[in-house]
Amino acid sequence: MTPPMGTTDADERGWPAEFGPPAASGAVRRALWAELADARRRRGEAPVRVLDVGGGTGAWAVPMAVAGCQVTVVDTSPNALAALRGRAREAGVGGRVHAVQGDAQNLTDAVPAADADLVLGHGLLEVVDDLAVAVVQLAQAVEPGGAVSVLAAGRYGAALGQVHAGRLPQARAMLTDPEGRSGAPTDPLRRRLDATALRGLLESAAGLSIELIHGDGVFDSWLPAAVLEADPSGADELAALEDIVATTPELLVLAARLHVLARRPSGGPGEL
Ligand SMILES: C[S@@+](CC[C@H](N)C(=O)[O-])C[C@H]1O[C@@H](n2cnc3c(N)ncnc32)[C@H](O)[C@@H]1O
Repeated sequence: MTPPMGTTDADERGWPAEFGPPAASGAVRRALWAELADARRRRGEAPVRVLDVGGGTGAWAVPMAVAGCQVTVVDTSPNALAALRGRAREAGVGGRVHAVQGDAQNLTDAVPAADADLVLGHGLLEVVDDLAVAVVQLAQAVEPGGAVSVLAAGRYGAALGQVHAGRLPQARAMLTDPEGRSGAPTDPLRRRLDATALRGLLESAAGLSIELIHGDGVFDSWLPAAVLEADPSGADELAALEDIVATTPELLVLAARLHVLARRPSGGPGEL
């Protein structure tokens, strides 16, 4: 039987307690859990279909399967997919998690088009070769009326982090390089994004309609670790602060990651 979402399986912030530290801040989790609840109302008795592209070892996929969704994870890494299968089995949801080796840039080779209620691209856009192609593929994978959720490394938050670490040339590179890269050979990302770039990609290139933008992790990397070590209850205060700044336009642009929830039009001229 499909367990009810937001009751026994998830805490009041919509995150199953057994999965330890959540993969994103409260604002992002709540937005996604609300989207799943809407999708569940649309689907009636049928399970909500989630496609997690670049889903890795299942930080999002497994909790969503625990919440009753049927989740397909497409990832290029066989190792990540093997770990995902193990994690899903351990959580008792092996039957609700389908792992597929495939590339975000050729998604239709891996999964049918327009066959998901919610498509995730979390931690993906900063690593794919062709950003515009990947975004269009995400948009084509969701059914009309469904939503695409992207979570991507933020350019400005990263530049501030470099200044804080005393790496001024890298900070300058992140602000001036078209891809927001640091210029260091060790930079692990192909690009960093800002809210304007994400908006342009999702709206203009992919034909989606943006419903909300969150800053994910605006303050937490700036808080000295000693503060929470001395007073662990400060974590709740920090979470409350993050809730405020996640939607404060002047501050959310400085987040470590930017989250966008965008919808595929139900029909008419905007149809892909
Ligand atoms: C940073 S991890 C993010 C994992 C997960 N989505 C999360 O939020 O925790 C990026 C994942 O994207 C996968 N990946 C990289 N390039 C990809 C591509 N072109 N198509 C699909 N997956 C890709 C990697 O193998 C890795 O599992």
